[in-house]
Amino acid sequence: MLEHLDRLPPDPILGVMGAFRADPDPRKVDLGVGVFRDDAGETPVMRAVREAERELIARQTTKTYVSAVGNAGFNEAMARLVLGQGHAALAPGRLRTIQAPGGCGALRLGAELIRAAAPDAVVHVSSPTWANHVPLLSNCGLRLERYPYFEPATGGVAFEAMLGALDRLPPRSVVLLHASCHNPTGADLEDAQWRELLSVVSRRSLLPFIDIAYQGLGRGVAEDAYGPRLFCAELPEVLVAVSCSKNFGLYRERTGALHVLSETPAAADAAISQLMRIARGLYSMPPDHGAAIVHGILTGEQLRSSWEGELDAMRLRIQQLRAATVEALTAACRTKDFGYIARQRGMFSYLGLGPQAVRELRDRHHVYMMDDSRINIAGLRLDNIGYFAEAVAKVVG
Ligand SMILES: Cc1ncc(COP(=O)(O)O)c(C=O)c1O
Repeated sequence: MLEHLDRLPPDPILGVMGAFRADPDPRKVDLGVGVFRDDAGETPVMRAVREAERELIARQTTKTYVSAVGNAGFNEAMARLVLGQGHAALAPGRLRTIQAPGGCGALRLGAELIRAAAPDAVVHVSSPTWANHVPLLSNCGLRLERYPYFEPATGGVAFEAMLGALDRLPPRSVVLLHASCHNPTGADLEDAQWRELLSVVSRRSLLPFIDIAYQGLGRGVAEDAYGPRLFCAELPEVLVAVSCSKNFGLYRERTGALHVLSETPAAADAAISQLMRIARGLYSMPPDHGAAIVHGILTGEQLRSSWEGELDAMRLRIQQLRAATVEALTAACRTKDFGYIARQRGMFSYLGLGPQAVRELRDRHHVYMMDDSRINIAGLRLDNIGYFAEAVAKVVG
């Protein structure tokens, strides 16, 4: 039966990772995969994670099943992290949370819930969006459309075009939004733009599905959650998919959550019952280890402040790298203005290069990035930004 399967091309990111690994040149620079790196080029286990893990192993007496919704303490702590202490939606009743295998798992659960509620629903994603949003949201049968988002000329959000497109959608359309650190563009909505967006979403009765995968790595923990906090305070229904991969450095532990805000407690009970059944049919139960670590960090005073300190340092490093990158590119390259990189947030930016320039950077200068010229700023180091900028200048001309 399996002999007739077509062989699929490898995922583009895996291709870039493989080519980087195989390159013996010591100057090689990996700006492809979206993981945080420190100035030694490592993606370290955070100190708070190590400590929480040690405590967990000492304390844990069983490995028996948890439940389809996962770790209840983790779920509650994640709701508080995303929404902030004292948020109106935390009052019991309307908000329900299911632990998920990473942000990807949360996105897929959300998509399946939408399909169960409205099989004909259309999900509108930003143009461009993170490549994996497409299979995660459409493989369950939902249709995907795109709304304008990025303005290459400014490196910012094409806000008027975005708002205009969303203002024409029929009611009950689903709109996928990135809370902060937009992947792949780095272009984020300002607080005032979230407020304008809220009025369109509310007037048109759209369902916002917010993806928050970089909380704390853009402007700050509270600032990066401005959109989900505002929407959950003002709207009857919101879905929020959360990832702990980047801000806790728990990539391989597959740790995330889906928050569902419903209009009434009865609707919330129905939504969580559906989600439990969806989870049972997909993977039964989420992995516990990462969630137990995050729970330990967020509920332990010392561990939490240690984690917050490390997260602050990670954010600062990204911001410093952005500034240093613009400085180096400006010095090396007179023909193109890269100033927008310093105004963007999170780990990603486009260099705005064509496929030929990207290939040349890879083949001649050992600088690896995605084919669309998305770079992971955190893949740079202070000691190779100069080399990187010179290489870019050579291909830009
Ligand atoms: C925009 C966005 N959403 C969600 C995720 C989910 O990540 P994970 O499933 O590893 O938690 C990522 C990871 O790169 C991402 O960039």
